[in-house]
Order: sequence, then structure tokens, then C-alpha cells
Amino acid sequence: MTDSVVDSILAARYLRKGEKTFEDICHRVAVALARNEGERQEYYEAMHSLRFLPNSPTLMNAGTEIGQLSACFTLYVGDSIPEIFHALEWGALIHKSGGGTGYNFSKIRPEGAPVQSTDGVASGPISFMKVFNAATDVIKQGGRRRGANMGILNVWHPDVLRFIHAKNVEGELSNFNISVMVNDRFMEFVESGQMGKVWITHPYTDEEITVGAIWNGIIDGIWRNGEPGVLFYDEINRKNPTPQLGDIDTTNPCGEQPLLPFESCVLGSINLSKFVSGSAIDEESLKRTVRMAVRFLDAVIDNNVFPIPQIEEATGKTRKVGLGLMGVHDALLMLGLPYDAEEGRRLCERVMALVNDTAVEESHVLAGERGVFPAFEGSVWGEYGMRNAALTTIAPTGTISLLAGCSSGVEPVFSYAYTRKNTVGKTFVMLHPIFEAELRRVVGALGLGSDEVEERVQAVIDHVHETGTVRDIGWLPVSFRRLFQTALDIDWRDHVRMQAVFQRHVHASISKTINMPNAATREEIGEAVLMAWRSGLKGMTIYRTGSREDVVLALKEKK
Ligand code: CDP
Repeated sequence: MTDSVVDSILAARYLRKGEKTFEDICHRVAVALARNEGERQEYYEAMHSLRFLPNSPTLMNAGTEIGQLSACFTLYVGDSIPEIFHALEWGALIHKSGGGTGYNFSKIRPEGAPVQSTDGVASGPISFMKVFNAATDVIKQGGRRRGANMGILNVWHPDVLRFIHAKNVEGELSNFNISVMVNDRFMEFVESGQMGKVWITHPYTDEEITVGAIWNGIIDGIWRNGEPGVLFYDEINRKNPTPQLGDIDTTNPCGEQPLLPFESCVLGSINLSKFVSGSAIDEESLKRTVRMAVRFLDAVIDNNVFPIPQIEEATGKTRKVGLGLMGVHDALLMLGLPYDAEEGRRLCERVMALVNDTAVEESHVLAGERGVFPAFEGSVWGEYGMRNAALTTIAPTGTISLLAGCSSGVEPVFSYAYTRKNTVGKTFVMLHPIFEAELRRVVGALGLGSDEVEERVQAVIDHVHETGTVRDIGWLPVSFRRLFQTALDIDWRDHVRMQAVFQRHVHASISKTINMPNAATREEIGEAVLMAWRSGLKGMTIYRTGSREDVVLALKEKK
């Protein structure tokens, strides 16, 4: 990553009045959160060395008057005008402070239902979502980026078909990701092919809605433009750490945090590529960073300025934090392990288990020092004292991975050569540094003259830039072509398998896109959703290459 890219991210997102450099930001954040000098130095070092970064709101707001430090929120939406418009107001406050909001709109009565006080008929959840969408347009998130929302409807809500089709027209509800919350019962009907089964009869239109109509609607929507996402209600609730507080039916905008109404969560990500030492992961060093990160994120809860009292209360009860990884594909590349092979997955499984187990241990230690989380009694933790009801997640790390110069979250690299614009608008080709170094090494080893080495290297770069892949360059060693696969080269089943590996050792959920080729059929998309459900995922997002208009540019511009 060039300094100019980092500088422009810093200037656009994170620098506060009087700050000039990344060092200034790390200093402000460390001072705001540390309880003593030792912690201050530790926090500063972890961020400054790019081994660990908290989510953007912490970087933006720690030690400032705003003081809102979390990325993820869910809000309760009830079935009355005050309850709906309170949520709208709270959502605006959250966006203003830099957070993203998730809503489940299923409490809202369906279209056509009577409204007693006015003798009128209800317009249904989707029409209210349009109001939330419009409000988001006018509130810039944290004053710096547009707000993100997740809109969810349960598959057992009578307006589910309208919801599924709500984004069929590109541009509708553009500030929302939408997801259908399906349950096991529904998936079992799908799995056993009972498409003609009437799932719900709409109480006001008498329309008989079949399993097949819903399923085909979901699959067709995904095939067309990647939405709706799918969330798995029963799996989310089988893993709910505080069942005594009620069921979970909502997630934050990118899906990695299933949360109770009014809960919020701060995220932080460890850059795994910084822990590659020779041909292995330095596990001791990784464990030390995990312990530091748990204390760091726990301190965020105590220092957070919450936008409304309900959020402060719900968050204080469970004290959930979301520690995760980024730079995972980079680490695999450095270790020579393909993302889509058993060896790569084995390494990821081992690392994530280590992160999760160490985080749990540290939260236990913290509970000894400062007490268990208030809703501990009745939680799944039983006798084992914990400071936090949940600790791990995998965030998208959309901005912080750019800052850290690593691959995002647990995603495979999108392209090893891509176009960037510098500050004066000039475009240039950026190369993935691990790819470039390894390419030069393998071409250098062919025993050619130096001019020809340069020509070959350039030819590969041009090819990757044009087509996005090295798979078809026959003269490159097979091991090189096998290693440097991109998100689009990797088979969708291997995407799902990788998500499942992480999910086994993550308390919350995982933000990940399952990429499918343009030629993927609706049947394959259906198979992918079924595979995700059977693999124990809590949710999934599929994107078929080229199904949105902006994709040609995306291939060249995204990493
Ligand atoms: O990298 P950064 O910390 O900026 O965020 P991320 O890992 O890409 O996203 C983490 C979470 O932040 C998302 O799941 C959303 O809840 C929230 N977010 C948001 O509200 N608005 C955005 N534009 C991006 C993220």
C-alpha cells in the first residue's frame, strides 16, 4: 500500500483537529483507553505496528467529545408509529456517531392489516423501510461516510415475498443490505423438495405463499444482484450466549454480529500476516496480542459514550466484544498454503481456535479482576466466570485493512493487480506485494536473461490486470498458479468451507462473500445456500460476478 493511499484514508476518515499522522491517532486512542502507562504503551505499539486495529469509530472518536466507539448496533422496531419513528431517530443518532444499524422489521403488521385508531389499512414493513432509507441519505455517518443499515424480515412474516423483491430494481433501498431470516423448518421443506407446500396464507390478501415461491424468490434475487442475504435463525439462537435474555433476530449491517435488541458491539482485528515467522505462525506472540486486544476492547465498553440509554443498558449487560482477524489470505500466501486446499483450512482452523480459546481465557482473567458481565447468571458460561458474553467475530475490515495494508478479514485477495487513482487523479497499477515478490522469484529461477525476466514479469502483470487471473498462464509453475488464486478463481464450495472453518471457532458470525462465476445457475445458488445451512453457518452473502452494473470497474479497482 502506498503512503498516499494511507494518507488519504487518514485525512478522509480518522484525523481529528490538530492531528497530522497515524502516530497522533494511535497516541490519542491509547491514552483514551489505557488504565496505566504499561497498557498505554502496549496499545500504542499494537496499533502503530499494524498488528491490531480497532474498528473505525474507535479510531475516529476515542479521546474526542463524540466518544462513540462501536461499529455495530441493532435497534428494536415495534408495531406502532412511535416505536417505528423512535427507531428512525435512534438510527440517525447512531449513524451520526459513526456506527451502523441493523433492524428486524418483522414486528410491523403486514400490508393491508387494519389500523384501529384511524380505521385505515397498514402499509407494511417495506414501506417503512423506504423511510429509513431516505433518512440515511441525509445523515452522513460520523460526518464522514454514508450510513449502513441491515434490514431483516423473518421468513414467517406474511410480506416476505414483497421483502425479497424489494431490491430487485437496482437503486431501491440503496442504504440497506437486506436479509431474510429463515428457520430450520423452512430449510427442511426446501431440502426435502416440498416446494408446493403452503408456508403462509397472507391474512389480508388470502394469497397462499408456498415454500417454492419464497425459495425461488430468494435464489432469483441473489442470482440477479446478490440480495437478499440469508440468515439462519435457529443456528444463531443455538449459539446465543445469553438465551435467558431472549432470542436473537437481528444482525448489524455486514452480518458479523447477531445481537439482542439495543445491543452494540465494538470490533477489533488482528492482522495475521504480521505473525508469520519463517514457515509458521508465531503462536506465542499471537496469544499475547489476543490478550492485549481483549483488554483493549473491554476498556472500550467502559469508555464508550452510548447514543441512547437503552443501548448503554443492553450493551452493559452482556459486554460483548468482537475480536477477529484480517490479513488471513496474506498470511496463507506467505506460508505457501492455498486458500482453497485442506492445508490452508487446517492452518486457519488452528489459528482461529487459538485466538478464540485465548480470548476466552483472558475474559475469564478479567472477570476475576473486575467481575463477570451482569447477565452472566443463566448464560451458557455456567460456572466459568466471564467478563464478556461473546468475544470473537470476523469483520469485513473494509477500511482498517487498507490502513494496515493487508487482505481484508478472511477474504481471499480479489485481484493481485488493480488500478488506483492517486490524489491528483492519475491512475496507476498496484501490485500485491507478496505476489510481486514471488512472481519475480519464480521467473528469476527460469534461468533467462535479465531483459527477458522483466518482459515475462510484465506480461504476467498485464495479464492479471486484464483478466484477473494467473491460472491460465501455462509456463508459470503449477504451484505458483495454485497458490495465487483470487476470490473469483476459488470454487464457491471452498468459499463456504472456509467460512465454516472460521464459524466453528467464532462466537458471533462472519462477514464473507461467497463469490460465484457469472455462469453460475440458480440451482447452484440454491445448493450453496443449502450447503451453508448444513455447514452450521449463521448467515451468508453470495455474489455472482457481473450481476451488478458496476462490476467491470470493481474487478480492476478492488484488491
Ligand atoms: O474497517 P472498518 O472498521 O471501517 O469497518 P468494517 O470492518 O468494514 O465494518 C464493520 C462494521 O462497521 C460493519 O459491519 C458495520 O456494522 C459498520 N460499518 C458501517 O456502519 N458503515 C460503513 N460504511 C462500514 C462499516
